[in-house]
Amino acid sequence: MTGHPATEVKKLAEALNTSVHTVVLTGAGISAESGLATFRDPQDGLWAKYRPEDLATPEAFTRDPKMVWQWYEWRRAKLRQAKPNPGHDALTALQDRVLAFTLITQNVDGLHQQAGSRDVIEFHGNITRTVCSNAPCTGKWQHGDEREPPICPVCNADLRPDVVWFGEGIPEGAMSASLTALATCDLFISVGTSSMVYPAAGMAQQVAANGAVIAEVNPNATPLSSHADIVIAQPAGKPCRRL
Ligand code: OAD
Repeated sequence: MTGHPATEVKKLAEALNTSVHTVVLTGAGISAESGLATFRDPQDGLWAKYRPEDLATPEAFTRDPKMVWQWYEWRRAKLRQAKPNPGHDALTALQDRVLAFTLITQNVDGLHQQAGSRDVIEFHGNITRTVCSNAPCTGKWQHGDEREPPICPVCNADLRPDVVWFGEGIPEGAMSASLTALATCDLFISVGTSSMVYPAAGMAQQVAANGAVIAEVNPNATPLSSHADIVIAQPAGKPCRRL
């Protein structure tokens, strides 16, 4: 059972005051108040309307590169209309108020950076960037290539969004930076993620084993909720602002 939101916010404020290294992990929920759909919310979540195996796997891209590319173009168009919300702003403010602070996001929307967060670890990539599908080729999109998908100028393979699809590994730099941060984390705050997709979903467990305090900000219960020391069962904007 979770406490009253005001009590839980106070507990989190106290934990922040004594924390040496706070790590925040965000998910799609932090961008919900910017008007971007989450994945697993039963009504409006992207995975309630689309099948991930049709759109977010390397196999899907091989099968139908145009459809996958157009789906990401549609999401990029939504993103162009979105702005950071008070939840993003609050996390930006927090980075200068605790001794050490690391922000890891599963989001591919870049809204934390737009809000002014520094050194954000993009665990699942970034939808605004494009890479060659024929790794390790490093060919880049060339201005004016409006094909769907555009073609790599170096090797002629299809270019793809620079995001992690199901069945793919986490980018090496993001993984090692996360592991380094988690090793010294004494306060872990999970914000707006369903805690269902690994390896990100395993981070809380990992730091809890080292004695870190675990906090969650999410209006809905997740598999993490019953293990968290502090649970703020509200949309992120309001409690983050109060913090
Ligand atoms: P999900 O859609 O799985 O979860 C979003 C969470 O945000 C849910 O638990 C909601 O209850 C919560 N939520 C909704 N509105 C909120 C608000 N205003 N404030 C705070 N929380 C809110 O999204 P993720 O956990 O980010 O990966 O999903 C993880 C990964 O699964 C994504 O990165 C993506 C997806 O498939 C790939 O595409 C590889």
